Formats: sequence, C-alpha cells, structure tokens
Amino acid sequence: MAMESPFKADVLKGKVALLTGGGSGIGYEISYQLGIHGASIAIMGRRRHVLESAVASLQSHGIPAIGLEGDVRKREDAIRVLESTIKHFGRLDILVNAAAGNFLVPVEDLSPNGFRTVIDIDSVGTYTMCHEALKYLKKGGPGKDHFVGGTIINISATLHYTASWYQIHVSAAKAAVDSITRSLALEWGTDYNIRINGIAPGPIKDTPGFSKLAPEEIISKNSENVLLLKLGEKWDIAMAALYLASDAGKYVNGTTLVVDGGDWLSHSRK
Ligand code: HXC
Repeated sequence: MAMESPFKADVLKGKVALLTGGGSGIGYEISYQLGIHGASIAIMGRRRHVLESAVASLQSHGIPAIGLEGDVRKREDAIRVLESTIKHFGRLDILVNAAAGNFLVPVEDLSPNGFRTVIDIDSVGTYTMCHEALKYLKKGGPGKDHFVGGTIINISATLHYTASWYQIHVSAAKAAVDSITRSLALEWGTDYNIRINGIAPGPIKDTPGFSKLAPEEIISKNSENVLLLKLGEKWDIAMAALYLASDAGKYVNGTTLVVDGGDWLSHSRK
C-alpha cells in the first residue's frame, strides 16, 4: 500500500520537472510524487511503450505529463528533449537524472566497450543533460525569496563507497556522477543559484535495478547478509527527491543523500 506523503500537496506548484529514465522503476515513482505535489512532468526514455504507459498513468492522476523519446548518450537527443519540454511547459525548474544502464558481470568477462557503455549512460549522460539544461535552469526555480535557479538531482548508488562484486562499471560510473554533482554544485551554485544534489538509493524492492543487480541466487548464497538486507521502497527515494527539489532543501547543495536504511555500512556482499 502506498504511504501517504508528509509533504504539502502544493509544495512544487507551478514547477516543471524533466526526468531521464522517468518512465519506470525509481524514476517513475519520482515522476509521480513530484507530479502529485504540483509539478508538471516531462519524462525522457528510450522505449516508446514504456513512456506511453507512464504518461497515461501520470495523467490518470491529474498530472500534466508528456513523454519524450531519447537516449541520454546522444547530445542531439538531450537538446531536442529539453527544447520540447520548454516548448510544451514553458520552463524548467527540476532536472532528475535517473537513466542508468547496468548488468552483473565479473571483470574478466566485461569488455572495455561494455564498461564504456555504462559510463556513457550514467556519467556522460548525466553530464550531457546537465550541460544542455543549464540555460533553462538558470531561469527556473521557485523565484520566491531564496534562489532563482532551478535544481538538479542525480540518482547515484552506494556501490562505490566500498567495492561491489560484478559491478566495476556501475561503481565507476556512479563515482563519476557523485563527482559531477559536487563540481556542478560549486560552479553553478555560486554563479547561478542552481542546487545540484544526488540521491544514493540502497536496495529498493520492485525495481529493475534490484531484480537485475541482486538476483535471488546471489542473495541466497549469502545467508549472513540476507539478515542484514533491509529493502527500501521507491517511495523512500521519491520523498528524498521531494525534499531536495523543494524549498525544504534550499540550503542543500553538492551532497549525495544516502537513502538505504544504513545498508551500505554492511558492504561488501557477494
Ligand atoms: C557483459 C554486456 C552485458 C552483460 C551488455 N554488455 N550487456 N557484457 N554482460 N550482461 C556489453 C556488450 O557485450 C557490449 O560490449 C556493450 O556492453 C554494449 O552492449 P549493447 O547491448 O550494444 O548495449 P545497449 O543496447 O546500448 O544497452 C546497454 C545496456 C542497457 C547497459 C545493456 O540496455 C541496460 O542495461 N539497460 C538496463 C536499464 C536498467 O536496468 N536500468 C535500471 C538501472 S538501476 P561489446 O564489447 O560486446 O561490444 C541502476 C542501479 C544502480 O542503475 C546500482 C544500484 C545498486
């Protein structure tokens, strides 16, 4: 059963959010929660049918929503999707980079191109979206008392805090994402009042990431760690996104908020 939100329903009223990977998993839940708290939602993804069903679902809750096909690895797609968002909704206040690629693979079986593919999606894709969104985000934001710039949330992970089996590519990619978050926060926070933060989810049930990265056979191999494995919900991540995207987080810039129930403290599991 979906938990009620502790945030006021109009906390993001009048704002426009673009979410990469916003059609499924954690990205969709963030789209939904930003939407029911007042934001208009543009979601970007590679799969048309996923976008269509996500948009229909958002609209069925009364959320103004559009789906825009695109691959974050292509700069021209990023530019086109941002232009379409502005054309449709007139502004951009919140960019959420939730698109990610991953698969479990031992290092010895991962080709350099496989490694590069995940870096391209997660790290370069995040950078590209931020870079192309800057000119719009400069004008976005709540425009109340505190800041005029918009805000960015980069979805990260906790894999790279220690080391994670079979995920050298994702770990390296998310380490780069965290670094990008800090560098952008420094430059754009200072120059444009744009806040850039990250969220590092732990194991979140009912997501493609969890079913791919923590398959049953891997969990059951290590019964000791199963005892420590406390699963989160997509809702938990979306609440963190609401905090960071709203004025509640107006003094938070350059941080990556770990939302994992303390799970990473017990890494590393195989
Ligand atoms: C080994 C693999 C592989 C696998 C792909 N490659 N899958 N290598 N094992 N399972 C290699 C290929 O051999 C190839 O290298 C290179 O990667 C590119 O493969 P393509 O199939 O051409 O890539 P593409 O079609 O672009 O797809 C990329 C993809 C993507 C990364 C595989 O489709 C994908 O993973 N999508 C999943 C989306 C998803 O689950 N999102 C949820 C994210 S959750 P060679 O050398 O052969 O050319 C998340 C959580 C993070 O990110 C951590 C939380 C704990």
